[in-house]
Amino acid sequence: MPDANILGIESSCDETGAAVVRSGQQILSNVVASQIATHQPYGGVVPELASREHLRAIVPVVRQALADAGQSYQSVDAIAVTQGPGLAGALLVGISFAKALAFGLEKPLIAVNHLEGHIHAVLLGQRQMEQRQRENGDLQFPVLALVVSGGHTHLYLAELQENLWTYRNIGHTRDDAAGEAFDKVAKLLGLGYPGGPIIDRLAPYGDAHAVKFQISQMKHPDRRDHKARDHQQADHAQLGAEDGPNFDFSYSGIKTAVLRYVETQGMKPRIEARRRALAEIDKPALEDVRRLSDRQTLNLVASFQRTMVSDLVMKTLAAAREYEVRTLFVSGGVAANQELRTTFEQEAGMQGLPVFFPARALSTDNAAMIAAAAFPKFLRGDFVGMDFSAEAGMALR
Ligand code: KG4
Ligand code: ZN
Repeated sequence: MPDANILGIESSCDETGAAVVRSGQQILSNVVASQIATHQPYGGVVPELASREHLRAIVPVVRQALADAGQSYQSVDAIAVTQGPGLAGALLVGISFAKALAFGLEKPLIAVNHLEGHIHAVLLGQRQMEQRQRENGDLQFPVLALVVSGGHTHLYLAELQENLWTYRNIGHTRDDAAGEAFDKVAKLLGLGYPGGPIIDRLAPYGDAHAVKFQISQMKHPDRRDHKARDHQQADHAQLGAEDGPNFDFSYSGIKTAVLRYVETQGMKPRIEARRRALAEIDKPALEDVRRLSDRQTLNLVASFQRTMVSDLVMKTLAAAREYEVRTLFVSGGVAANQELRTTFEQEAGMQGLPVFFPARALSTDNAAMIAAAAFPKFLRGDFVGMDFSAEAGMALR
């Protein structure tokens, strides 16, 4: 297999990323400029501000990635960029810059689906993966990949043949993504933004059994139930999913349940006080948030996280059994969650199913994952012309 150094560029949401990755596995550099500070006052990503920040950051971030890798514009073998899904204006910044580089340098240009990037982050610099490969030979397919982030909660069956990865969507959220639920609950409780990492770190201080939440169970039609299946196919035709039973998620209900709990328990004045206190601290640390969180809030946070984690794990493992997969990948921003990782490891372990995560820093958006996903496409000569454009709602196949 020839070696190739691929420069990856990512700008689909609120991180400007550039990275150089050798042959899909070895990270030579990985630079991420986060816009958290820009969006923090608004409690969520503001698309216009995101595009502006990407424009500011893209040139220095790419330069830094090349310098860190000891590479130059001329020495890389290809340029890879996120095509979608994501914010159209944000995607266009990365795409226009990647096109200009590829055109000026006469290098091949590779378009990568952001979700495929998240899945390939699992293959990056994996010590456990390398060890497993040494012990058991190559990665075993089919792989079931759970991509769980601020925008997605999707299950894909992945196959690999002659460097061609193919994906089949077998489940997705019907409303909010899991990361979105973490962010909205944290905002509701006046804990700050983004919510996932804060709730992750606060949850161990609370009692996860204190508050009972239920997540609606999406019924999936049985294979033999043709009438229901026809129905589902009609649904799926619209959503771009495929044949077979599906394993859908739904997280808008739990957010409403948390809101109801807050109201019935009269927590609002304490939440407002916390919000005001945190707003006065420049860059609040976890210790500040914890100090300002009473027992009831900590219990609520722990119970919420426990419910989310057990739903994600149980549904994913049910899909793994149904489709008889050999390997499980869990990636995307929420895959950084400690309780999610431990629970997956325990439960998948009991099923005898190997489960792999990216390193925590590679779970959230970055460009190394884009360069990694581009490598098999590089080997296949799967390049794009100058006429390709951003696809905000891009599906993964
Ligand atoms: O993959 P990502 O960086 O961007 C998207 O493509 O959406 O994911 C960001 C999401 C946010 O919702 C954030 O709150 C969540 O991932 N997240 C976490 C953790 N770290 C990030 N959720 C739970 N626990 C974490 N440790
Ligand atoms: Zn992402």
